[in-house]
Amino acid sequence: MDVPQDVLQQILEAGRQAPSAANRQPVRFVIVNDRDLLKVLCDTLFTRFVKDAPLVIVGCANVESLLTGKWAVVDATIAMENMVIAAWTFGVGSCWIGACDEEKVKELLKIPDKWKVVALVTLGYPAEQPKPRKKKSFEEMFSFNSF
Ligand SMILES: Cc1cc2nc3c(=O)[nH]c(=O)nc-3n(C[C@H](O)[C@H](O)[C@H](O)COP(=O)(O)O)c2cc1C
Repeated sequence: MDVPQDVLQQILEAGRQAPSAANRQPVRFVIVNDRDLLKVLCDTLFTRFVKDAPLVIVGCANVESLLTGKWAVVDATIAMENMVIAAWTFGVGSCWIGACDEEKVKELLKIPDKWKVVALVTLGYPAEQPKPRKKKSFEEMFSFNSF
């Protein structure tokens, strides 16, 4: 099932409002919702189910951006996670996709050289409810006042 346009708009807005180092926002997101293009995009990924998603957000960072290029990937990541969280408030699930042939993705979507593909995120209504993945314990992940 497609994500309705008004829901998608609110999800994207959560990305647009994300914090950014010095507020320079050296980020751009390509939304791929054309079915034929999604199929071709899927061939550049190592994750086959992407073609079944109604849309994919391709997060890009201008790592050569003046002053804050070194934070561009962080900025893009925060914005994408904002969108992931916003999506779930509408019942829209997601999956981060890192395993891709970056050069092929860039060529296909006409992403300029100096931009880095940070990751992709699929969005769609979940067809199943998988069990939660095993996570590290609280103690393994957090400590107070020293590492
Ligand atoms: C940066 C990043 C890259 C990922 N890349 C892939 C991927 O290429 N293919 C895939 O199927 N899942 C990918 N995932 C999803 C993870 O496998 C998943 O988040 C993890 O197993 C934990 O499951 P959960 O998100 O349901 O808690 C990625 C997640 C992150 C954060």
